[in-house]
Amino acid sequence: MHDKKVYIETYGCQMNVNDSEVMLSILKDAGYVRTEDITDADVILANTCSIRDNAEQRIWGRIEQFRIQKKKRDVIVGITGCMAERLKEKLLDCHAVDIVAGPDSYRSLPDMLEAVTPDNPQVNVLLSHEETYSDITPLRMDKNGVSAYISIMRGCNNVCSYCVVPYTRGAERSRDPRTIIREAEDVFSHGYREVCLLGQNVDSYFWESPDSADDNVDFAQLLEAVAKISPELRVRFSTSHPKDISDEVIYTMAMYDNICNHIHLPVQSGSNAMLEKMRRKYTREWYLERVAKIRSAIPECGITTDVIAGFCGETEQDHQDTLSLMEKVGFDSAFMFQYSERPGTLAARKYPDDVPEEVKTRRLNEIIALQNRLSLESNRREIGKTRRILIEGVSKKNEGELFGRAGNNKVCVFPAGGHKIGEYVNVKVLSCTSATLISELV
Ligand code: 5AD
Ligand code: SF4
Repeated sequence: MHDKKVYIETYGCQMNVNDSEVMLSILKDAGYVRTEDITDADVILANTCSIRDNAEQRIWGRIEQFRIQKKKRDVIVGITGCMAERLKEKLLDCHAVDIVAGPDSYRSLPDMLEAVTPDNPQVNVLLSHEETYSDITPLRMDKNGVSAYISIMRGCNNVCSYCVVPYTRGAERSRDPRTIIREAEDVFSHGYREVCLLGQNVDSYFWESPDSADDNVDFAQLLEAVAKISPELRVRFSTSHPKDISDEVIYTMAMYDNICNHIHLPVQSGSNAMLEKMRRKYTREWYLERVAKIRSAIPECGITTDVIAGFCGETEQDHQDTLSLMEKVGFDSAFMFQYSERPGTLAARKYPDDVPEEVKTRRLNEIIALQNRLSLESNRREIGKTRRILIEGVSKKNEGELFGRAGNNKVCVFPAGGHKIGEYVNVKVLSCTSATLISELV
């Protein structure tokens, strides 16, 4: 008997990456070892994403390949994460899947693997109001040992009308802050120099103490507690919500040098009519005020965003409002998407997906072109500045060069000069592309 080998493939957001690490930890305790070679695996897991139809289509392509593997040899295939939760038993119809496990069911994976047979597939898609995996130490998958994801909450209580996440990840729940701090201290003691606190909406993090209301903890307080672990530990977080980001969070960022000056603040649209239909619960004016507040407290704060092109009923004027907002804010970078209708969401039930495909594509291309210019302008403003970098790896293009990120999340590459991954160095920015700052050690 050899140790059973598990291979895991991860799609989607950082939260999913961290969930894969949680699964690996649970499986390790049950006697499984991780393999990075799919052909050698006894168990293949795909931790999936449902955010847009093209994400799911890509995964269907992979499931088809797993089916081919299964014809050649005995291997268990499990689908976990958001697609598992969304499609449930339907995933079994393709005859390539043995296990379907939703985001709150990972503790039951060893039992499911024990029980599964070709005639007895296993499905657990129960969502929980309590599960935060708070006692599980994720088995880190990153190669560099520098930056660790830490989940501080799960699920989402917002009702953005386009979004499938509340259905796939269930209700919001916050994790006990003591377990978060313990985990951050633990990774720091193992040499990590950066933690990224993860939640669908970190600004609504709230821990209600069972003992006394005085011991309740909100996100600003959690951020401060993690920042106090060591000045040598950088703290990042994602994702912020424009309706919930508080002045306290902004002041806490300004107060601690080791809290990185970067906020990912998805705007989605610059049109009030669209924001209303999207149920984002803020206006264009509110968003711009939050940006002004951030910039007055933290003048050099990196601000990045997500934008959706072609949401239901979006007019040319709505689209122009998005472009003008992007220009006004001058985002440092952005993730940009065409609207993709997700079954079961409020928008799918209530609004026709009526912007023609070619119009969506054209608008998205205009948004991307604008952002490319804004990113380049933002990077040009960095030229001549000295930034403190945490070294994350060796440049893919040149072995003699290293890369790392500045606090504002910009990627710098520079000649190694004998430095190593995990060290802090100061670099001066010499030139740039829209994606990278070319720098030298100072
Ligand atoms: N279609 C397109 N983009 C979406 N997003 C979420 N749901 C959809 C959808 N149905 C985008 C949002 C969100 C990011 C994670 O994905 O911009 O912030
Ligand atoms: Fe993450 Fe959303 Fe994709 Fe789920 S659907 S993996 S929460 S991005």
